[in-house]
Amino acid sequence: IPVDPFDLVIFGVTGDLARRKILPGLFHRFLVGQMPQEARIIGAARSKMTEEEFRASVRDTLLEFAKEAPDNAETLDLFLEQLSYVAVDATGAGGWPELAKMLRPGLVRAFYLSVSPNLFGTIAAKLNEHDIATPESRIVVEKPFGHDLASAQALNADLRRSFAEHQIYRIDHYLGKETVQNLMALRFANSLWEPLWNATHVDHVQITVAESLGVEGRGEYYDKSGAMRDMVQNHLMQLLCLTAMEPPSRFVPNSVRDEKVKVIEALEPVAQSDIVRGQYRGRDGEGSYRDHAGDDASTTESFVAMKVNVGNWRWAGTPFYLRTGKKLRARTSEIVVVFRDPPHMIFPKFDNQRGNALIIRLQPDEGITLRTTIKEPGPGGMRLAEVTLDMTFAEALGEHAAPQDAYERLIMDVIRGDQTLFMRGDEVEAAWGWADPILDEWSRSSTTPEPYDPGSSGPEDALMLLHRDGRRWREIG
Ligand code: BG6
Repeated sequence: IPVDPFDLVIFGVTGDLARRKILPGLFHRFLVGQMPQEARIIGAARSKMTEEEFRASVRDTLLEFAKEAPDNAETLDLFLEQLSYVAVDATGAGGWPELAKMLRPGLVRAFYLSVSPNLFGTIAAKLNEHDIATPESRIVVEKPFGHDLASAQALNADLRRSFAEHQIYRIDHYLGKETVQNLMALRFANSLWEPLWNATHVDHVQITVAESLGVEGRGEYYDKSGAMRDMVQNHLMQLLCLTAMEPPSRFVPNSVRDEKVKVIEALEPVAQSDIVRGQYRGRDGEGSYRDHAGDDASTTESFVAMKVNVGNWRWAGTPFYLRTGKKLRARTSEIVVVFRDPPHMIFPKFDNQRGNALIIRLQPDEGITLRTTIKEPGPGGMRLAEVTLDMTFAEALGEHAAPQDAYERLIMDVIRGDQTLFMRGDEVEAAWGWADPILDEWSRSSTTPEPYDPGSSGPEDALMLLHRDGRRWREIG
């Protein structure tokens, strides 16, 4: 179903995010007929460029990045016709009146700030000053949304000077992933799981976001951030919230977001003894983290594992173990809900017994696995073994399983005015409020991350974090 006609202004349209994600995402929505013909995309950046030059550069971008390569010149041209360009000086006066003239009254207006966060407030203020922002306008921003609580509060204050909270769309692209949303369907559209989804029945939860790539090429950004700021405070926190939250009363933005904030507020402070930091070594000519960061004394972590307690009635006594890192054995994101042993076991223990678990695979190979115990077939008495019931979205749903890119969905949600999959200001601040003490402690401490081998599961101590509690991580990959 096509969305309503809109004017979308992309600031920073010549940047990496616009080229790799935003423009190809829009093109794909155009191909499936979701972008109406009257929609207009206005690229804005500092460089002077004619409309023809802009369209030619977008054509090149789409040839390079669009997942459905535009093999049909006519279709591509139709899409390009909906594009225009304006050179805007974000901090000065140039270009704003021209932009104002390009926008049409009465349509949905969205401003995507694909720029450095230090320009968020400035651009928001300019949009207001030049009467470009209407009460129906929406503004879209992306991480890094601050590097601690104080800077996130300052960014929120900057944006709120010009826009109301219901107009601000803060992207965490993990929320746009099909399987992450499926987590909500799994929990709240089935009656099977919810009665078991608590500390009485769940022994612990593991959330892993493992990446096989290192930080080659973006070491300069990453070194100021590290895994805690880059992944845990946002993406893993969102996964934790969706797994742990209470069922919202309705599937509307604020009901969902209220429940997520309550989870963050319930998080107990994490002791340093429950956290492991790691940094990958080099191997066989491949650079180490420090080579990629361009700092041979860097103490930034490229891996974190931690044990987190959610202090509320549902979860008290059931730890959530989080782990994420670069240069690990495989690219795998999954949530593993491990259930408690039966209260009374009438059969003997067997080899490799791990217990019931529900494994939600977020990427790649999206699907759900249920680990369960059966009797091994054949004679020889009651010999037990664990088997898995597997569901892969690709197999179960065929062509309908093709996951939509996170950005495609999120941009269309902005146009539709649906904030469910965007972070509210208080949510971002609560997440920083939880992360800050951990980061502060690291900056004061003289301890350094533990080195780990590329292609491994991370530092030895991360394995110990579970071993000492009598538990084991599910293998990566
Ligand atoms: C980004 C981080 O937000 O997410 C990157 O800055 C990380 O460091 C990326 O690689 C992971 O996203 P995805 O969608 O590939 O899992």
